[in-house]
Parts: sequence; structure tokens; C-alpha cells
Amino acid sequence: MAMTVSDAIRYIGVDDLTIDLFESQYRVPEGISYNSYLILDEKTCLMDTVDKRGTAEWESNLKEALGERSLDYLVIQHMEPDHAGSVQRVLELYPDVKLVGNAKTFQMLPQFLQTAPSNDQVVVKEGDSLELGSHTLTFYMAPMVHWPEVMVSYESTEKILFSADGFGTFGANCKHGIEDWKLEAARYYFNIVGKYGAPVQTLLKKASGLAIETICPLHGPVLKGDLTPYIQAYDTWSKYEPQEKAILVACASIHGNTKAAAMRIAEELQACGQKVTFMDLCREDMSHAVELAFLYDRTVLCASTYDGGLFLPMHDFLSHLAAKTWQNRKVAIVENGSWAAQAGKVMRAMLEEMKNIEVCEETLTIKSTLHEADEPQLKALVAAIANV
Ligand code: FEO
Repeated sequence: MAMTVSDAIRYIGVDDLTIDLFESQYRVPEGISYNSYLILDEKTCLMDTVDKRGTAEWESNLKEALGERSLDYLVIQHMEPDHAGSVQRVLELYPDVKLVGNAKTFQMLPQFLQTAPSNDQVVVKEGDSLELGSHTLTFYMAPMVHWPEVMVSYESTEKILFSADGFGTFGANCKHGIEDWKLEAARYYFNIVGKYGAPVQTLLKKASGLAIETICPLHGPVLKGDLTPYIQAYDTWSKYEPQEKAILVACASIHGNTKAAAMRIAEELQACGQKVTFMDLCREDMSHAVELAFLYDRTVLCASTYDGGLFLPMHDFLSHLAAKTWQNRKVAIVENGSWAAQAGKVMRAMLEEMKNIEVCEETLTIKSTLHEADEPQLKALVAAIANV
């Protein structure tokens, strides 16, 4: 229990340093935290639970924070198992606890339990409040940030927003403090919440009407002090605006010849003053490539032709971007084919399915390896993607 919120509001979450892949897909070399909070007032109120991987440690934290008291309320802001994974244990420990959620919460809750709980239910809707004594929670619905039942809770006495997945980040709290939030917050956002820009905008508008001094997310550090950088980042990201003028050169190369051409392009772009990050999609982490494609305003896609189509690591990358509704970006295409180049055609078709992706007319098609004769095409492509 490294983090503190206030005397009356205790952090009782846990770090997970042994998980291999969060959501069975994201590498988290610094782990992840499952945050949970306890409000101690005339009534006691638990804000979410934790993944079942952390139930035992969290239960110990909960009991220590409660002392001799029992638990009056459990607020369920999000039903995903990394947060509601220990609801069953709460029901066993505190059979009289009242469950606080919205109509969708209570539709979903029995699906995750073996038997539907018989506990009293406090069904809340937009703007409803729950009095705990000197603390009052007001609930705001946040559907699709990141599931349909998500809601956030505002505590008006201490001006705290319990933001569910919003403003979360990868990294265990024992590894990353508030000063490290930016290290993994973008990768977390674009890969987990990235598809839901419009719902995030709706939530930000609701939050703008609240006096917020502290944000308590369900992953990562409690955010205090000047909250402007976090809110501005979420505003930019959820509008699908690039955060930087920079170029991602992403390549999927079978034998290294496409990669050599991609690296040459990256060097040319750097030579003309562009900020460039090069990523080998066959070897580097996909979620990092997705993050950079969202953060930067331009991307160069370089891929080999394979089995008469697109080499699969690039297909996978574009599929990830499509799933996360990547949009409003400029792209240049480099393809390689030893007899019938098809990669560019497939990439272009996939990009056409996305919203507002501008594809440079200047493309580079190489046959097996980059040759002297390809130089004019290469220079034209570099000029096209650099001149924005
Ligand atoms: Fe951290 Fe959508 O769960």
C-alpha cells in the first residue's frame, strides 16, 4: 500500500509484477497495478476490487484499512475482471454489503459469478449521489470508456475523481510514480481505450464541469497537483490529433532487403531534420508501434509481398490500427516484390477503409533489393512525407 490519497480515503490496491501479458496481449515489463480505494466515513465504501491474481494481498489491505469496521458499500465502476475479479470475495467477507452500480452493471454482474448475489442493490444513474457522511459520491456514466457499464465517481468534499480505466497506465505503482505517468500512459491509452475517442471526449466534457484536485484511476499512480497535462493529453489523444510532428517508419521485411530500404528512408528523413522512429514490426512490440502511429502525424509503411499479398506482420499492424480507429494521418507506402509486388495494393486497400488517411501519391516499389535506379522514387517519397 505505497500510495496515499487522504486520511479518509485509502489506497488498498495491489501491484502485479508476475503477469506475462496484460489482457493476454500487452507486455508489461514493469508490471501493472490493480487499484482499489476505501472511503472511511460514517459509512464505509469500497471503490472497486482487484483482479483475482491479487485477491489475497488486497483482502489483507482491505481488512487492515477497515480495522474492526464492516463494509457498507461496494461501488462497481467497471465489471472487467481486472477490477471486479474480487467482487465474489467481498460478498463472502461482507454478506450485508450494498452493491452500487448502474443498470448495466447489474445486468453484467451475474454473468461473472456462479450465483446472482442477493445483496441490496443501489442502482444509480447519471448525476445520482450517495451520502457517506462528510463525503458524497456523485456518479457519471462513462459508457465505452472502456466497456458499456463503466461509470466514474466524483467525491465532492475532497474533490476526487475516481476515473475507472481513464487516466490509467501500465507499470506497477512500486515501479512508477506520478512523475513516470507519461512513460506508459499513451501505450495504455491507444491500445486499450484508443477506439473510444468520442466517449472519452464526452467524459472529458462532464469532468470539465467538476472541480477536480485528485484523479484516482484503476491502474497506475494517483494523480495530484497540476492535472492539466493529463487532461490535455487525453483531450489530444481522444480527438485523434497527433501529439508530435514526427514520422514512424514501420517495416515488415522477410530477408532484410525491405528493412534496408526502410532504414535508408529513415536516414534520409532524419537528414532533412525530421524526427523519426524506426520500428521492425517483425521483432518489436506491436503495442509500441500502435502507440507511435497515434502519437506521430506521419507514418511510412514498408512491407514485403508475401504469398501474393501483404507480409503478415504489416497486415497485423494495419489490422491493429484499424481496430483502434486510427485516423487523420499522412502515410507513405514502400513495397517490395521479387516477381509480382502486391504489398502496396493491399496496404492501400486497408488504409482506404480507415477515416481520413492521406496516402502520398509518391510510392516506392523495389524489386528484391534497393537499386540505383530506385533513387528518384525514394527521394520523391522522402520529399512528399517530409513536406507537411
Ligand atoms: Fe482495467 Fe477495462 O479494465
